[in-house]
Amino acid sequence: MSIKALKGFKDILPTEVHTWQRIEKVARDIFHRFEFSEIKVPILEKTKLFSRSIGEATDIVEKEMYTFTDRNGSSITMRPEGTASVLRAFIEHSLHALQPIQKLYTIGPMFRHERPQKGRLRQFHQISVEVLGTDLPRQDAELIAMAWLLLTELRLTVSLEINSLGCPACRPEFNQALIDFLASCEGPLCEDCQRRRQTNPLRVLDCKDENCQEQYKAAPSIIDHLCPACTDHFQAVQDGLTLLEIPYKSNSRMVRGLDYYTRTTFELVTDALGAQSAVGAGGRYDGLVGQLDGPKDMPGIGFAMGIERLVLLLEQQTETSEPQGIDIFVVSLGTAAADLAFKIVHTLRKSGVQATMDLAGRSMKNQMKQAGRNNARYTLIIGEDELTKGQLVLRDMQTREQEEIAFTDEITPWSKALAAKLLNK
Ligand code: HAM
Repeated sequence: MSIKALKGFKDILPTEVHTWQRIEKVARDIFHRFEFSEIKVPILEKTKLFSRSIGEATDIVEKEMYTFTDRNGSSITMRPEGTASVLRAFIEHSLHALQPIQKLYTIGPMFRHERPQKGRLRQFHQISVEVLGTDLPRQDAELIAMAWLLLTELRLTVSLEINSLGCPACRPEFNQALIDFLASCEGPLCEDCQRRRQTNPLRVLDCKDENCQEQYKAAPSIIDHLCPACTDHFQAVQDGLTLLEIPYKSNSRMVRGLDYYTRTTFELVTDALGAQSAVGAGGRYDGLVGQLDGPKDMPGIGFAMGIERLVLLLEQQTETSEPQGIDIFVVSLGTAAADLAFKIVHTLRKSGVQATMDLAGRSMKNQMKQAGRNNARYTLIIGEDELTKGQLVLRDMQTREQEEIAFTDEITPWSKALAAKLLNK
């Protein structure tokens, strides 16, 4: 039996790769406008980087990481997300010394051993963005507006939900209120919630079980437990979003699957992808750099979008464009013409034109068919007649118009002139 890819690991085929490239291009272009720089970080990290940042009592760390012992006996993990690795690099290379506010993004594969389904993979790709060095609420609004702009420029429609998870001054009090509430719940809770109410009470609010959710309708709201500083911060974030005319919904039940968040959190959600509603998500993590032994008071905020989910949404919400065709297919008949075509094609390519030809000496009819399959804008026809006359035929494949162009023996300058003509059209 032939070997297949692992479950939850997907090939991205040439037919869809252009959509990926478009997403990345739009993202890079927008990040550039907002003064972000790209950083590339390794796929493998020491396991403790993730357990210390994402949190021991999270699903990701408890049951989803690809962790193994390497040949030196060290515990290694394939990154389940980008934030921890980017912050590790930020601290390791003292990037804060270069500039007080660092704006970084990274694009690449992440790994989580989840149950695969539509929009949920074990190897998936994130566009992951971080801003380090400021806790100003305007920064939160600006970053959310950037995420919104990215989706708008991709012509996608999603909803924005925001929340505040408080800070070390007010979160413990809310946690206690939640623990007390959970102890008073009379109906049975699902197994996950029973466990989480001891280990990570906040996460129960995210439970998908209907019976649990029914009981949590009466749960305390984090917004009512924020300290004055967090309340003001959250209000200022909302004011910023309103100023920029970004529509949002405040959702006090929104908790995140990673423990590092403080204050602002947000999710970009859709109901178009079944159970996988979040296309992107993020939030503030003001204590995280210190927790990873970096500078103590180094606030940060970021988000990540799942590229697979963006692709699915693009397929549903927009007419995905056909892959672009090539500029020119050079058709040749006979050995002399094929030699000439070979040289012309290479010169055109050197001049920036997407050119190709048939190397196998197939019939004229077959070559024309191939030009059609390649979606060529033009064909250049070099047959025996054309060679004798010194006039090659350039055919516009859409309009079917043909023009004869005089050919000289000076192949390189002639091809360069043709390249300039094609690039101008
Ligand atoms: P996250 O919510 O775990 O946050 O993931 C962000 C996005 O990655 C999700 O909204 C989703 O689009 C995509 N995603 C997550 N898991 C999968 C999966 N198994 N298959 C396909 N797509 C998936 C983070 O990872 C944080 N590091 C975001 C962040 C950056 N917060 C601050 N800075």
